[in-house]
Amino acid sequence: MEVLWFGVEPARLDPPYTAIGLIFSVLLGVWSAEALEMSVGKIPFLEAVNGSTVMLPCTYSSCIGIENLYFNWQFNQNGTMQRVCESTIPTEGVEPKVTIFKERVEFVGKNHHNNISILLWNITFDDGGLYTCFGRNPKEKDKNHSAIFELIVVDELRVVDKTLTIIIASAVGGAIALLMGFMLLKNFTLFVLSKLEEKNKECLVTSSGIDNTENGLSGSKADSKATPKKK
Ligand SMILES: *[C@@H]1O[C@H](CO)[C@@H](O)[C@H](O)[C@H]1NC(C)=O
Ligand SMILES: *[C@@H]1O[C@H](CO)[C@@H](O)[C@H](O)[C@H]1NC(C)=O
Ligand SMILES: *[C@@H]1O[C@H](CO)[C@@H](O)[C@H](O)[C@H]1NC(C)=O
Ligand SMILES: *[C@@H]1O[C@H](CO)[C@@H](O)[C@H](O)[C@H]1NC(C)=O
Ligand SMILES: *[C@@H]1O[C@H](CO)[C@@H](O)[C@H](O)[C@H]1NC(C)=O
Repeated sequence: MEVLWFGVEPARLDPPYTAIGLIFSVLLGVWSAEALEMSVGKIPFLEAVNGSTVMLPCTYSSCIGIENLYFNWQFNQNGTMQRVCESTIPTEGVEPKVTIFKERVEFVGKNHHNNISILLWNITFDDGGLYTCFGRNPKEKDKNHSAIFELIVVDELRVVDKTLTIIIASAVGGAIALLMGFMLLKNFTLFVLSKLEEKNKECLVTSSGIDNTENGLSGSKADSKATPKKK
């Protein structure tokens, strides 16, 4: 993060645009880095009562298309990854044959609209934990992609404390606002500092004439004189 701030050269742009530009470039960087993407949805966990039947959601997307996409679901059991099911999808829209390793598991996604969700019937407490939806697309040099979904098995559903949720939400909102403010302030400070520095340099050049030309101050007095360049 810190490196990026200096990489965009805040002094060349107006402060607000620098911040917006940075956010965009970070987002673009993240997007373009992921050709294949596995997603377990916006809420990557589920709290469910013992004995109920739950769906573990997962979809994939790929901007370059898929061909023989290998995918599996893995369950982290006491630190070891157990395969839940696996298959290879020849092309989009084709329903693959899925091999299932864990009991009470059903492949319900059917690759319909890139859906590779599974159903876990009659869950027990031992089913609680982290489930990884994994995908590998040979079209992009077999790079691994995955998303993690957590299943929490409970005795009975707790009543969600709404006030606490609101407090947390406003705290998060406040923190973001503070961060934005800080970022703008930092940028502005850098901007002012660089302007001051520029002024200082100009003064040095005109008074002594021994500064180098590498700062883009062409046409200044230092240019015409054949003074040795400072390294
Ligand atoms: C979980 O649910 C199953 C079926 O409803 C029941 O047989 C089992 O005793 C329950 N386990 C616990 C620890 O409550
Ligand atoms: C996982 O750990 C729990 C308690 O630590 C144990 O009861 C259970 O048998 C373990 N499961 C496996 C598959 O090792
Ligand atoms: C889930 O439990 C119900 C009722 O106990 C039973 O009828 C059903 O066969 C079970 N399903 C699976 C996949 O085990
Ligand atoms: C995936 O398929 C299941 C079963 O048909 C469905 O319940 C779920 O909504 C689908 N998910 C998405 C993201 O389409
Ligand atoms: C991808 O995952 C497999 C295991 O499923 C592993 O053997 C391989 O080294 C991984 N490849 C990369 C590039 O991480």
